[in-house]
Amino acid sequence: MSQPAAKAENLFDLSGQLAMVTGASRGLGQYFARALARAGADLILTSRRSAEIAPFAEQMRALGREVFLVDLDVREQSSMEQMGQQVEALGRQVHILVNNAGCNVRKPALDVRWEDWNLVLDTNLRGSFFVAQQIARNMVQHRYGRIVNIGSVTSVAGYAGLGPYCASRGGIRQLTMSLADDWGHFGITVNCLAPGWFQTAQNAVLYEDPEWVEYLTDRIPMKRPGLPNDLDGAVVFLASEASRYVTGQTLLVDGGISTGAVRATRRAASRQGVQQ
Ligand SMILES: NC(=O)c1ccc[n+]([C@@H]2O[C@H](COP(=O)([O-])OP(=O)(O)OC[C@H]3O[C@@H](n4cnc5c(N)ncnc54)[C@H](OP(=O)(O)O)[C@@H]3O)[C@@H](O)[C@H]2O)c1
Repeated sequence: MSQPAAKAENLFDLSGQLAMVTGASRGLGQYFARALARAGADLILTSRRSAEIAPFAEQMRALGREVFLVDLDVREQSSMEQMGQQVEALGRQVHILVNNAGCNVRKPALDVRWEDWNLVLDTNLRGSFFVAQQIARNMVQHRYGRIVNIGSVTSVAGYAGLGPYCASRGGIRQLTMSLADDWGHFGITVNCLAPGWFQTAQNAVLYEDPEWVEYLTDRIPMKRPGLPNDLDGAVVFLASEASRYVTGQTLLVDGGISTGAVRATRRAASRQGVQQ
């Protein structure tokens, strides 16, 4: 078994390991990559326009990490296969995969078009499956792997206007459990990291509306939307020796919004801790 030599004193140390992050051109993907690099991992960064992530790659190299750029469109079968070949050509064990590339279409369910459904499901669900399959081939050879599928609070809750997205994220949760069972005996763990509401390019338009931000914030027990760094600890945990006996699980990092938090008292009373 090519298990990395875990330093007993630091279960979160990723030194000498190689981590692949998909959708690393912007947003959460870059935060995941940075967190893994800070923990010691070298990186494979994928994007549909890998030349555009050269400046980010330079920042990661400045941390002392090796960084490889790979073009990948997760909706294209040929691109998926080329990615697999490029990764194998590196001749390196891939220890960690963060399956992050994703997209969203926000529309009332009655307006969702056939193409909208295909875009979201093909990218988020089919794409994640086949990326995992490509990289698991490498992990199986080495009898070791940490796969982190990025889900969402929509993996466990339904939201109006997000039908295809919720279906894709619910699917990711189920896929995670299925792959955990498929690959556990190869020493590969598969978990789902499910962020709540974070402000990125994907949802920037929502945060332009102060009323909506107040509405959202009120429903989050921690009383603020997520900051991308709030995910650092969770991704490093699921990528490291620290989570060696955790598989098939969904870890929500959402400030508590998945508790279904609804005020059960009037606002003034709840602020004063008074029962009503
Ligand atoms: N932001 C949140 O609050 C939130 C919450 C829960 C889950 N998530 C999930 O977390 C992930 C990252 O979210 P984000 O907010 O950082 O989104 P983002 O800013 O829109 O970034 C999405 C990334 O996915 C890539 N991507 C999209 N379609 C692709 C395709 N066909 N092939 C390859 N790459 C593709 C994009 O690359 P290009 O540059 O090539 O377009 C980009 O790097 C997504 O899967 C998202 O659904 C986000």
